[in-house]
Amino acid sequence: MIMSTQHFKEFYTDWRSLAERTFSTEVENPRGREKYGGIALTGMGGSGIIGDVIHVLAFDSSDIPTVVVKDFSLPKFVKDDWLVLAISYSGNTKETLSTVYEALSRGCDVAGVSSGGKLAEIAREKGLTYLQVESGRVPRASMPALLIGALKVLRAKGMNFPLPSSEGLTKLGEIGEAEALAEDITERLAGRVPVFLSDVRHYPLAVRAKNEFNENAKIPAKVEVLPEWGHNDIVGWEKWLGPFTAIVLELGEGDKLMKFAAAYLRDVGVPVKELVMSDSMTYVDRVLWYSLVLGLASLKLAEIRGVDPGVTESISRYKAFLKSWSPSIES
Ligand code: F6R
Repeated sequence: MIMSTQHFKEFYTDWRSLAERTFSTEVENPRGREKYGGIALTGMGGSGIIGDVIHVLAFDSSDIPTVVVKDFSLPKFVKDDWLVLAISYSGNTKETLSTVYEALSRGCDVAGVSSGGKLAEIAREKGLTYLQVESGRVPRASMPALLIGALKVLRAKGMNFPLPSSEGLTKLGEIGEAEALAEDITERLAGRVPVFLSDVRHYPLAVRAKNEFNENAKIPAKVEVLPEWGHNDIVGWEKWLGPFTAIVLELGEGDKLMKFAAAYLRDVGVPVKELVMSDSMTYVDRVLWYSLVLGLASLKLAEIRGVDPGVTESISRYKAFLKSWSPSIES
């Protein structure tokens, strides 16, 4: 999909209306079982990140375990009493489809979210619970639709996961504020490799940010997560090399853990940007809003670097390779 950065940016600046349209999209076959042993969330890349967000939401919203699967096969403990929710924007991603076939053969309850593709075909043929999101975008620019779609499917299964609030949706329309925050991040990143630091709860946001800089700005990026960071990554900074800039994701002004990381990195001479996130937003609202901000920052960097954010040739190359290769799954 070749288009100007300006045109591509519209796939981000319309998130509020995209979210609202997904709210009014119906879940097909909205039925669930009385009891589940757990939930497996399968998907890759821009679709897979939704599984990470739901996995964190489950810390407070779910009585049953969740597992995120970004692979060709499901763990052994995913039995016939599990729900397997497959998320794939294209509906054609080999890893994700392979978990769907495996889940069906194990007798799991299988559900899906996609914009069409093979996943839509399977869902309709088998009468699975399914939500179709709008097509014509790239997966990463469809984040609100994929997230709301997945949450609606889970709710249709009787699981009480929170949806974005109306304040959260309004916030997604505040593009001027998002652009200003984005600008402040981008101006520290020209010619540098971003390292996103977060706590465990904001890990999905840090990964999302990394992926955005990879895919839109075509640069490597890194994620480091606390508290594990304090047991290994921290040492790597003692004699660090390379043009890194640390972006530290902090929750409110009083985030002592993340502030420790920011202060330590400054002490050893690493350029640091502290992104102080609002602690008065709900978790889902915050993840969406800062995904928008960090996404816009990656688009600004793409523009500075003169690269097309909409084209990801190497992902297509990997997917072409997968057409002629299947993993041999060892039992
Ligand atoms: C993000 C992106 C990739 C895809 C991934 C999986 O914009 O293009 O990370 O999300 O290759 O593809 P889908 O999402 O179609 O299952």
